[in-house]
Amino acid sequence: MLERIVVGRDRFDLKEMGDRGTVFIGKHIVGSGEDAHLTNPVMLDVARPHIILVCGKRGSGKSYSAGVIAEEMITLPDEIRNNLSIIMIDTMGIYWSMKMPNDKERETLEKWGLQPKGMTGMRFFVPKGYAKKYDELGIEYDAVFTLPCSEISGQDWCLAFGFSMIGDHGLLIQRVVKKLKSREKYSIDDIIEEVGRDSKAEQKVKDAVSSRFLSAKDWGVFEKEGTPAAEFMKPGGIAVIDISHYLRSSAGWSVRSMVIGMLSRRVFQERVASRKAEEMEAITGEERKHAPMVWMMIDEAHQFIPNEGETAASEPILTLVKEGREPGISLLLITQMPNKLNREALAQTDIVISHRLTSKADIESLRSIMQSYMKEDIAAYINSLPRQKGAAIIMDDNSERVYTVQIRPRMSWHAGGSPKAIKEKGLF
Ligand SMILES: Nc1ncnc2c1ncn2[C@@H]1O[C@H](COP(=O)(O)OP(=O)(O)O)[C@@H](O)[C@H]1O
Ligand SMILES: [Mg+2]
Repeated sequence: MLERIVVGRDRFDLKEMGDRGTVFIGKHIVGSGEDAHLTNPVMLDVARPHIILVCGKRGSGKSYSAGVIAEEMITLPDEIRNNLSIIMIDTMGIYWSMKMPNDKERETLEKWGLQPKGMTGMRFFVPKGYAKKYDELGIEYDAVFTLPCSEISGQDWCLAFGFSMIGDHGLLIQRVVKKLKSREKYSIDDIIEEVGRDSKAEQKVKDAVSSRFLSAKDWGVFEKEGTPAAEFMKPGGIAVIDISHYLRSSAGWSVRSMVIGMLSRRVFQERVASRKAEEMEAITGEERKHAPMVWMMIDEAHQFIPNEGETAASEPILTLVKEGREPGISLLLITQMPNKLNREALAQTDIVISHRLTSKADIESLRSIMQSYMKEDIAAYINSLPRQKGAAIIMDDNSERVYTVQIRPRMSWHAGGSPKAIKEKGLF
């Protein structure tokens, strides 16, 4: 049997743990062009927190690869799996199909010694206000979710509505949010009522602000009560949070940023509390209820933590980037434009899975974080990749190694592909 390559582990961990707590994501590609062939299995450490960047141009296999990692994690043996949970922020509406087996790639799977398999442990969450639409379309979902208005700052609302913080509208929103702070919980209707009561702003400013809040009601997600974070963090489970609908709304990106920002904050708080419970458990030996470690997977990450400017998700995600390790939160950031991703997030990345990239600026951004231990230039590695979907280079800061890898086929159905008239001839 070929030796397994482990990424995400340094020498010491490798010696202590071997490949326990790792998952099979693909095989090492040796040789290039026509001579390329697959060799050693490549395993990814999931026992420790990581910040993983998955990049590559459109259609190169990014979302698919994230799906592979998620699949592997929820098919681990129970004693490891139950310490983990995955939250997939589905910005494009493509992960709902994970419950179904990948029958269309049965043959390829068999070549890899795998079988089509639906991920039945996945839970599909939709914004409460959209549940009816799903019912009408006959699409099944497992649960609806909401987020509490009381956790949205005046600044977040301003960002979402495109109001300046120092203009009349922004100031009114901040006054109202500050006033409502004394209540533990409040709804958008309560905000609108308070706007009406404000004595400082002119009527036309109040009208404009009220109408924005009225439209925010249509987003169907910000309410008095929020879904408890623990609902998204079931041991050994995947929660797919579908926020793809907001694509069509004019405030689309800002609403999605708010949702991701608030989720990140709630997950962080939940894990910090759990960490304490875990420590108490270790000290007293008494079992306590706690949430499992979390992997947050965010597609189109450059839209939420851009390098230039700020969104409602910037600060909460950066908190996870900087302080997530201790409470056991991992991030998997997916982007087709690493160059547009926040520099701090990029710098904290310890594993890069890069599919084919063509833009010089994007390659340059990877060079700036990972070049130090590489024998050849990153561009040379990327250019040597076979023109095969799912081929990638993996740069691992932990082991200070770089590998060319073919990511394995998915066991569950991937809905993200563009329709093809002619089946591509695959190398492997
Ligand atoms: N590892 C892989 N093995 C086989 N096919 C793959 C693999 N990765 C991607 N593909 C194919 O490429 C298509 C596009 O991948 P996807 O991950 O959706 O692209 P993007 O990079 O835009 O997120 C998929 O629908 C699938 O058909
Ligand atoms: Mg994608």
